[in-house]
Amino acid sequence: MKTGFPLVFSVTSGKGGVGKTNLAVNLACCLARVGKRVVLLDADLGLANVDVLLGLAPRHNLFHLFHEGASLADVILETPFGFRILPAASGVSEMLSLSAGQKITLLEAMDELEADLDYLIVDTGAGINDNVLYFNLAAQERIVVLTPEPTSLTDAYALIKVMQQNHGVHDFRILVNLAPDAKAAREVFSRLYKACDHFLAGVALDFAGMVPRDPQVRKAVIAQKPFCVQDAGGPACRAVTELANTIQTWDIPDTLDGNIKFFWKRLLFRA
Ligand SMILES: Nc1ncnc2c1ncn2[C@@H]1O[C@H](COP(=O)(O)OP(=O)(O)OP(=O)(O)O)[C@@H](O)[C@H]1O
Ligand SMILES: [Mg+2]
Repeated sequence: MKTGFPLVFSVTSGKGGVGKTNLAVNLACCLARVGKRVVLLDADLGLANVDVLLGLAPRHNLFHLFHEGASLADVILETPFGFRILPAASGVSEMLSLSAGQKITLLEAMDELEADLDYLIVDTGAGINDNVLYFNLAAQERIVVLTPEPTSLTDAYALIKVMQQNHGVHDFRILVNLAPDAKAAREVFSRLYKACDHFLAGVALDFAGMVPRDPQVRKAVIAQKPFCVQDAGGPACRAVTELANTIQTWDIPDTLDGNIKFFWKRLLFRA
């Protein structure tokens, strides 16, 4: 169970627009509410994302760590919701091409972060590309988000297949978003489970939970607030609170590779 190490988990998907960023932000919010120290790494390197959702304007990103005199505190953005944001802003290929000295600077900053952290949540982009794959590979746990749409199911399957067959990842947590009800969510999970069971030997899927379609989510997006703040107690917020409770029961490895520095090492030194 809980050890001194932070847990790094990604929120990812095969298909875009399934609700990853909303879920990551609100999970961060719920975990912070129960006293957890949370940093949300915005690893969706296409469009600015987390900051837009929250109406915040980060002035810096990870790469500013290499500017003279810049510290982790300059790069991390505090939010009014009890958690912090770390904007990645650049892709894995840029990270790989950092000099040895810059990689060490980054790792030292992450060491500093680790002392003050329970969860690092990685909001990835969608699809099967290097950025998504490598952030997922480096994380200790992966939450794959899908919706009842058939294309979302096939894209989730494709992501899981590539991660397993090309990268040896076998364990995935599955979250069904935008489901009409709990039964429908279970059915979506069951379809994915059967496909993986049939075609991908050795893959283990764990049903992490569901979040219902809730009109308050869109309203919160427009208001640039987490739905768990805008509509605390609403159906989406209740579901994410339950997910946050589930996450707190996940085992946290007490070996060194459960260490946040190893997350970055896996990213930075993958050649
Ligand atoms: N449970 C929900 N109920 C209602 N609407 C939702 C729900 N979850 C997400 N949405 C809607 O879906 C939109 C897309 O969500 P979000 O930006 O979080 O997806 P994403 O997976 O991060 O997208 P991308 O792949 O582009 O990063 C939101 O703006 C919101 O309006
Ligand atoms: Mg997103």
